[in-house]
Amino acid sequence: VKTVLKILGGLAILAVVLVASGFIYIQSTWERDYSTVPLPPITATTDSAVIARGEYVVHALAHCSACHALAGNPEANFDTPLSGGYVWDIPLFGTFAAANITSDAETGIGRLSDGEIARAIRHNVGADGRFLPFMRFSVGPMSDEDLTAVVSWLRAQPAVSKAVPRDEWGILAKALASRLAPRTDAPPPHIAGGVVSVERGKYLAEGPAACALCHTPTDQMTFATTGPVMSGNGVAEPDGEEAGFEFVSPNLTFDPTTGHIAAWTEDQFVARMRQGRVYKGSKMPWENFTKMSEEDARSVYRYLRSLPPAVNNVGPPRRRAGEGPTS
Ligand code: HEC
Ligand code: HEC
Repeated sequence: VKTVLKILGGLAILAVVLVASGFIYIQSTWERDYSTVPLPPITATTDSAVIARGEYVVHALAHCSACHALAGNPEANFDTPLSGGYVWDIPLFGTFAAANITSDAETGIGRLSDGEIARAIRHNVGADGRFLPFMRFSVGPMSDEDLTAVVSWLRAQPAVSKAVPRDEWGILAKALASRLAPRTDAPPPHIAGGVVSVERGKYLAEGPAACALCHTPTDQMTFATTGPVMSGNGVAEPDGEEAGFEFVSPNLTFDPTTGHIAAWTEDQFVARMRQGRVYKGSKMPWENFTKMSEEDARSVYRYLRSLPPAVNNVGPPRRRAGEGPTS
């Protein structure tokens, strides 16, 4: 009996040592320095047409204002400065605070170079070389032209002094750090708006409007794409506004049985984008997309229509928690 106890005790000590050394390993290796990721060759301009396009990208497409102004602030509107401050507190992953991206030198981005601001948006690397996880999974790739427009608009906004805390990574985010990497693929070519075309729709949906980031099957541990673009992401997320409900992002391809909008006409789609939010807790930035031009909304529809229909039943986009086919 004594030897058995000794062995068990030894195993317990070994387990504690292993867990502790794993913890120490994660704590000492998670923080990666990406300061060698090159700064995009972007120079802000004071050209008013470019600044106006930047405002459109910021609000109606890339929905920067959804996080940097509207989040957690029911009084906010599209004139509210992008001074940030909202904190996402995700258990074990950490706390992530929407940065102050007004031109204030102390608390905002006033001291960053155009290239440093552009790198945060395109590659999700901060001026000090740290990885910006929220930016990585929320901001779609955009052309040099649109990136220039966004940086030019940001530069033209008044400074607002508001200190925002830095991100604090939790143990799970740290453990996953080796899989979380900046976006380094080549930027898409610019497809100008003002026309209705599949090409413009593809640029928007897979680029700045980021529809594809939410509506494509994605592995939640590796963040790799696991199925056809826009065919729905069945990973359920709880409705933060109403306990007991959850959301998934529907299949937006035109598969006749599992495509959520397969029966929608182009006009019905445009009207739905205009209508805006139905569910308070949905993470889709509906407010922003109500500002999308009619041409752009039509282009997105034509792009979706042009995709190969993909069979993927993710169930109703909103349902009682646990009632979907995939959860
Ligand atoms: C889903 C929410 C979300 C969206 C959408 C978003 N941001 Fe952010 N942003 C954040 C958070 C949170 C941070 C803090 C770093 C992190 O965790 O990514 C951040 C950080 C930044 C930074 C780094 C600031 C610094 O001090 O280093 C810049 C610049 C920035 N965002 C600009 C933008 C722009 C421009 C857009 C639109 C093209 C945008 N963001 C869209 C949430 C968002
Ligand atoms: C941040 C994640 C996110 C982004 C970005 C996003 N969606 Fe969604 N979308 C969702 C979720 C979640 C739902 C289900 C809840 C809801 O209807 O609001 C949804 C629902 C929809 C619906 C169904 C609405 C209905 O009335 O049944 C359509 C259509 C749609 N999205 C289109 C788009 C288009 C087009 C884009 C890009 C311009 C886009 N989405 C970007 C997450 C997102």
